[in-house]
Amino acid sequence: MLQRAAQIIKEAEAFIITAGAGMGVDSGLPDFRGDHGFWQAYPPYARLGLSFIDCANPEHFQRDPAFGWGFYGHRTNLYRTTIPHAGFQIIKKWIERKNAEYFVVTSNVDGQFQKAGFDDDHIQEVHGSIHWLQCLNPCSRIIWYNDETIPVDETVMRALHIPRCPDCGEVSRPNILMFGDWSWLPDRTRIQEQRFDTFLTGNADRRIAVIEMGAGNAIPTIRATSERIGWNLKHATVIRINPREPDIKAPHISLSCGALEGLRMIDELLK
Ligand SMILES: NC(=O)c1ccc[n+]([C@@H]2O[C@H](COP(=O)([O-])OP(=O)(O)OC[C@H]3O[C@@H](n4cnc5c(N)ncnc54)[C@H](O)[C@@H]3O)[C@@H](O)[C@H]2O)c1
Ligand SMILES: [Zn+2]
Repeated sequence: MLQRAAQIIKEAEAFIITAGAGMGVDSGLPDFRGDHGFWQAYPPYARLGLSFIDCANPEHFQRDPAFGWGFYGHRTNLYRTTIPHAGFQIIKKWIERKNAEYFVVTSNVDGQFQKAGFDDDHIQEVHGSIHWLQCLNPCSRIIWYNDETIPVDETVMRALHIPRCPDCGEVSRPNILMFGDWSWLPDRTRIQEQRFDTFLTGNADRRIAVIEMGAGNAIPTIRATSERIGWNLKHATVIRINPREPDIKAPHISLSCGALEGLRMIDELLK
């Protein structure tokens, strides 16, 4: 499998990187796999008996903004200070060595690909980004960059500052698709999606390596994206790297390990 993966990378003329929460694990970020994983990362929510699905809900911003922003403010601060692990640079090196075209499709809202130096115009964030805000109402379709400081009292997970809409003064919220969310503004993600469609059209006949990392089965958006490309495009091969749920049908490739470990092993074979 590893040899085949290295061969696919070696022969690739274009790269698609698909990533879920597991991509951040080697940078020290939590995935939210199961309530146990979520509560381990956020003990105050274990005490309140709230799951990830309960917390990632826009109604908190309406009902109790300091509580809503407690969860998202904490994560904003965490993602701002996180340094992307070396696996991001390994992929960048493969792309740059060939001067190849690439696109990143991720359900992560953490901005780690941009932070690692991937071009913002080559990234689709299917669930939005925590680093962009919108009005809670929303009073307009404006989406703006979040440069506010949001301190959080971590003992109770309450924000000490609430970012507000510059137009109407109402509470703002991250431009992220949450659960039971009817007011998410998809405009930024849609523009990214159009760029990805253009990329796919332009590269449909090329040999494409789809490198999928850390995408789980619970919300299978990213896995479905990799598989759709892998089955629909004649010269695309998916390399799925995942320590717990690596399975994918041949001729696609399944590596049962962490993202950083898998990328390092492939890179060794390319030296
Ligand atoms: N960093 C983020 O932005 C972030 C974090 C948590 C959740 N979310 C959101 O929650 C949803 C969660 O779905 P999901 O499938 O992305 O995550 P998930 O938490 O459901 O699954 C994580 C997956 O990563 C795998 N994994 C664990 N450690 C890994 C490692 N070291 N290397 C590679 N893979 C590893 C697990 O086996 C699992 O399949 C997404 O829709 C996303 O928007 C985002
Ligand atoms: Zn507003």
